[in-house]
Amino acid sequence: MTAAAAGLEVTPARAAVAKSSPRLDRLAEALRRLGRELIEAPFEVRLHAFDGSPEPAHFPAEAALIAGASLLRRSAFLAGRACAREALAALGVAPSPLLREESGAPIWPAGIVGSISHAGGVAGAIVARAPTIIGVGLDIDTAEPIPEAATARLVGRPDELSDGIDLGRAKRLFVAKEAVYKLHFPIQRKFLEFHDVRVDLDAETGDFVAEILDPHHAEIAAARYRGKLVESEGMLLALVGC
Ligand SMILES: CC(C)(COP(=O)(O)OP(=O)(O)OC[C@H]1O[C@@H](n2cnc3c(N)ncnc32)[C@H](O)[C@@H]1OP(=O)(O)O)[C@@H](O)C(=O)NCCC(=O)NCCS
Repeated sequence: MTAAAAGLEVTPARAAVAKSSPRLDRLAEALRRLGRELIEAPFEVRLHAFDGSPEPAHFPAEAALIAGASLLRRSAFLAGRACAREALAALGVAPSPLLREESGAPIWPAGIVGSISHAGGVAGAIVARAPTIIGVGLDIDTAEPIPEAATARLVGRPDELSDGIDLGRAKRLFVAKEAVYKLHFPIQRKFLEFHDVRVDLDAETGDFVAEILDPHHAEIAAARYRGKLVESEGMLLALVGC
């Protein structure tokens, strides 16, 4: 099906979005490896670059969601949607507008779970077929450490930082927790603070277990998710699935 036949809008002068480069390919392969370890269901990942200018093909209803947003936000949002749409196509799902809930969570086609992230000029999406898997969370960020100790303490619980404040480790906790939130929220519909999640991260392997300790919602406390984090090409990728 052509983009036009599917109802996708292509901005002619800008349609040549950077879809692939050796760096993006290496990042995508790193993400695929995480997926193979964590997701026991058919899944697909896609990554695109974005820089505030090229606009991938999109549905007008998607662009309407970010009317008035900055060029960079628009570019990141549409690149994330394009990644998701390509990944969905690889799973055999026909293109349709990927809208979002009031919470910000994307609304996936029936029978699909997925997650989108964008940072540092890289957008990515992972999608998988439910019900073998009930949720997935992806976070992509630059590998730069958290800038200061005060922020590290907002992200890390005292028991996560008991060996002292390591700003690089704090960044990894941040990325892992953002991925956990993106998995947890669509399932439990509960907002989480950083200290509501305890991440036990193996610095060598990148494996982590995230435990939800939300004191306001005892019924969901003690939920545990298995995840994995990897550094590649100056970026951190964290994935959780359940
Ligand atoms: C959702 C959130 C975690 C992502 O922020 P981020 O890491 O800065 O940005 P990312 O680019 O990685 O992710 C943004 C994407 O997350 C997805 N997302 C947004 N809200 C979501 C939610 N409630 N559930 C699942 N996914 C969500 C969207 O796809 C969004 O991209 P889009 O708007 O282009 O579709 C953040 O915006 C937020 O709402 N945080 C509050 C909760 C929190 O951080 N708690 C502490 C961690 S436990």
